[in-house]
Amino acid sequence: MPSSPPAQIVIFGAGGDLALRKLMPALASLAAKGQPPGGFHVIGVARTKKDDATYRAEIKAALDPEALKAWSELEPRVTYLPGDVSKPEDVKALAAKLDSLPGGKNAGRLYYLSLKPDLFMQAVTELSKAGLLTVKEGETTAWRRVVVEKPFGHDLKSAIELNNHLHTHLKEFQVYRIDHYLGKETVQNIMGLRFHNAIFEPLWNRDHVEMIQITVAEELGMERGRAAYYDETGALSDMLQNHMLQVLSLVTMEPPASLEPQAVRAQKVAVLDALRPPAAEDMPRDAVRARYTKGKISDKAVPGYLEEEGVPKDSQTETFVAVRCEIDTWRWAGVPIVLRHGKRLPKRFTEVQVQFRTPPVQLFNKPDGISDDEFRRKLRNGDLCQVRPNVLTLSIQPKESIRLSFGVKRPGPSMVMAPAVLSFDYQEAFNTHTAPAYERLLLDALVGEPTLFLRGDEIEASWRFADALHAAWKENPKNAMQEYEAGTWGPDSANELFHGCEGGWSRG
Ligand code: BG6
Repeated sequence: MPSSPPAQIVIFGAGGDLALRKLMPALASLAAKGQPPGGFHVIGVARTKKDDATYRAEIKAALDPEALKAWSELEPRVTYLPGDVSKPEDVKALAAKLDSLPGGKNAGRLYYLSLKPDLFMQAVTELSKAGLLTVKEGETTAWRRVVVEKPFGHDLKSAIELNNHLHTHLKEFQVYRIDHYLGKETVQNIMGLRFHNAIFEPLWNRDHVEMIQITVAEELGMERGRAAYYDETGALSDMLQNHMLQVLSLVTMEPPASLEPQAVRAQKVAVLDALRPPAAEDMPRDAVRARYTKGKISDKAVPGYLEEEGVPKDSQTETFVAVRCEIDTWRWAGVPIVLRHGKRLPKRFTEVQVQFRTPPVQLFNKPDGISDDEFRRKLRNGDLCQVRPNVLTLSIQPKESIRLSFGVKRPGPSMVMAPAVLSFDYQEAFNTHTAPAYERLLLDALVGEPTLFLRGDEIEASWRFADALHAAWKENPKNAMQEYEAGTWGPDSANELFHGCEGGWSRG
């Protein structure tokens, strides 16, 4: 059987931060590893006029020094085409350039929309009109795929509109909606941990789990001129609606019948459909939004959000979001799910904590000087909190580890229990760094493996949830914007998401 010609990758928005800092290093690494086997060529498209040499120098300048060796593999396969994807004549020039690459029309083509979201639809329309998306039924070599970056719409309505538009010009199997969190090794391992091991799943439900918390904490603020994008987006839409709900869906989905894309995605959608935002009367307490004021990150003074360059002085955009919600399924009903994300927090970490229930009777750790009866009464009334010994912590980044905490008897004459931990660390175990998310996802898109990409209805379900919070924040003055000093863990009100003895937020 003759081998397929090298694939052709077109990156629209080729001069942008994402293209230079994430996509090119990922492609360089794939090129250096000889993946996918047929190889590929890259055309960068953006409006600025420049030649290939200038574009290559720009990419090189943005690379980490350790990526330079890999870059030498990719460099000769990268060219640049000045052009505007909304102009038919520029798309025609792109078609001619693609045809002139090895394999011409018979090569598979991956169009990566690393563009401003308001250009997504126009880009697809123009590519379609130029015949660049046409694919024959069952075609395996001359495939045509489109990777759509986030944000996928800005609410449910716009996401539906974008999905409809894509489906006017493309078959669903040609659409790759990207969420880079799904490319992270530790995120993929969530399914592995749950469904390969028999010991966790019997406990993975409302009978044994008291609470689930997910944090994505960042030290970053508005570096690299991101304010214009960010101020239109905010913490809820930028991180929670997409990355965090994806992680949550993997933690809470039912086991799929197979690893086929449809089987996995169907279970993710089912659980996202069952996700319930706080009731209107609980919104002020259970959905907190805030923005940072000036402060210090690692001893370095940083401005407040409103002082950041490019942020309007009357901005109402949140840089922190925390929400307590529930999943109305037989498995999860009544289990609080708390989600928190913020910029300019004291340290960067992403983590999932599954907190298990306490034993029904507390035999240990009675404080000195109180009777058994008093101990029981205090525990029952919540005046004393039972220790939560069993927490499973999945550290997604920067630590890539799994830790299970439990109690052990402290050596000595009395029965006093002390905390202990079983832990696993990816780097220690495999002595290797996991591949960056974009590398895995680009490879999957090139070989036509859609499991780690989103289906349209997954995104719509996530927007339904985010829209409810946005609407509540807009409608009710009680849901006012709060403030937190940069370098702190967010506003105090976020601690009220934990009730009674449920505990508190992880510090990573
Ligand atoms: C992006 C957001 O999708 O994810 C950024 O737009 C955020 O605001 C980034 O900083 C975080 O990604 P990671 O992989 O560094 O956690």
